[in-house]
Amino acid sequence: MRRHVLLAAGLLAACRTPEAATPVDEVTSSTGVVVSAHHLASDAGAALLAQGGNAVDAAVATAFALSVTYPAAGNIGGGGFMIVRLADGTATSFDYREKAPRAATPAMYQDRQGNILGAATDSGWRAIGVPGTVRGLAMAHAKFGARPWKDVVMPAVTLAEQGFPVSAAFAQELNAAVANLLTHFDASVAAYAKPGGGAWAAGDTLRLPQLGRALRAIADEGPDAFYTGWIADSIDAQMRAHRGLITRADLAAYQAVERVPVRGTFNGHELIAMGPPSSGGIVMIETLNLLEALGTAGMARGDARTLHLRLEAARRAYLDRARFLGDPDFSAIPVERLTSKAYAAELAAGIDTAHAGSSLALGADIVTGAEPGHTTHFSVVDAQGNAVSSTYTLEGWYGSGVVIAGFLLNNEMGDFNKKPGFTDQGWNIGTPPNVIAPGKRMLSSMSPVIVTKDARLRLVTGSPGGRTIPNTVLNVVLGVTLFGEGARAAVDAPRLHHQWMPDTASVEQGAASDSVLARLRAMGHAIRVEGPRSQGDAHTIVIDQATGVAHAANDHRSPDSGASVPRKP
Ligand code: DON
Repeated sequence: MRRHVLLAAGLLAACRTPEAATPVDEVTSSTGVVVSAHHLASDAGAALLAQGGNAVDAAVATAFALSVTYPAAGNIGGGGFMIVRLADGTATSFDYREKAPRAATPAMYQDRQGNILGAATDSGWRAIGVPGTVRGLAMAHAKFGARPWKDVVMPAVTLAEQGFPVSAAFAQELNAAVANLLTHFDASVAAYAKPGGGAWAAGDTLRLPQLGRALRAIADEGPDAFYTGWIADSIDAQMRAHRGLITRADLAAYQAVERVPVRGTFNGHELIAMGPPSSGGIVMIETLNLLEALGTAGMARGDARTLHLRLEAARRAYLDRARFLGDPDFSAIPVERLTSKAYAAELAAGIDTAHAGSSLALGADIVTGAEPGHTTHFSVVDAQGNAVSSTYTLEGWYGSGVVIAGFLLNNEMGDFNKKPGFTDQGWNIGTPPNVIAPGKRMLSSMSPVIVTKDARLRLVTGSPGGRTIPNTVLNVVLGVTLFGEGARAAVDAPRLHHQWMPDTASVEQGAASDSVLARLRAMGHAIRVEGPRSQGDAHTIVIDQATGVAHAANDHRSPDSGASVPRKP
């Protein structure tokens, strides 16, 4: 997984010159807006709004379109989460996270000596979880969609069949993916290598006819084309041929789930976030409750006290993630307690405001030994004030690298705990709630969130980035709810991350001045300064509550991203 993060970070860095000026742009609209990692996918969503569709229609169209235009993470072969808040204030969430196949076992990623086989979850056939995206999008659409199903899928079919222009950044990324991960799989090279050979270049057209055929079947026949029809047959046959685990029965049994979102409050705002099997909502709400308990008065971006307390809060929230979180259909998860103000007050009492805590000391009972990737988020609001916040993923950049029926499959199995009982001071966690079991969903960090103030819509955001996600999303949430920032400033602001273990904080360049870094290190924090704009791309919408106007800021951390508004045909 780590490999993909580095690859992704390297590609993103290569696609930008750090000194390039960031355009200070927001797209404003009072008739709805879609913001995502690819401007053509945002256009697809905005077109649905223009046809009289609502935010859910637009979100589903955007998700399908991203599976074409953003193959690194957009998908029909992965899974994710969606939060929907209607203009009347009601909210719900959809869990379309992948599941372990029935043949999965707790020790499937260990050798006979008990060594963790990291590479087995990095890529290839056995890394793949049963995909949830098509069922999840169909469930959300069936409940809330105003336009026919076919209308929300067809923009993606058209993009795949007719092709779309490749940008310079995408050409570079695609060439790297074809030369590295995809090269191991013939069907993946056939789908994504430049026809006739040579390297992709800016201005080329990428056509994905096989993906177009699969999407057309989904448009015509509904999600069953994927789960019980010929696409399921193709997956089953390819899995058998390559010693993969997913069967037709796994696909037929897959169901998305509508779940009650988790809720919190912070500084006069209300948060609606994703509960388990995502850790995102709980980690964010616990962190915010801790900050509130410690006192937010005077907190400012980049100030040493604020950064210290954010790191200490994140350390504790991520320890609870490791300790308690997993699939709620398999273990009881203490959601109420972890998100309560009383629990935060208890934990806050143990925080030293002058010295860094020790992750090892705090979690000593679960550490038994001396170590993510790609995902994408899109945000939508419509003219009526309905909002959708959705993050979905293939896990790694281009997922498992495996293409079946024209689409990339995830490598989500790597999000399970790979060795029961073995938690180390690196990335491995071995606590029971996230141990592999047949039919179980692997724990996620994806954190789509909707924030309201005085029961009115204020913020829609989310991000990729593996375990960094809750911290990235919090960086935007804090910008809007505490630091008085607008959409662009909150998205652009440099980010920080601490995930309990490894006990090292990371910050994007610019998150703290040299003197503040020195003070934090003197307090005992180990801090690594990462490149600028290396932590997630959070495509965000902020509503100006005085005017009702939506301000959308695509995150320039992803080069092809864009915000689109409905235009009359
Ligand atoms: O669900 C999760 O938490 C991870 N599979 C997400 C992976 C990810 O964000 C990688 N992207 N940079």
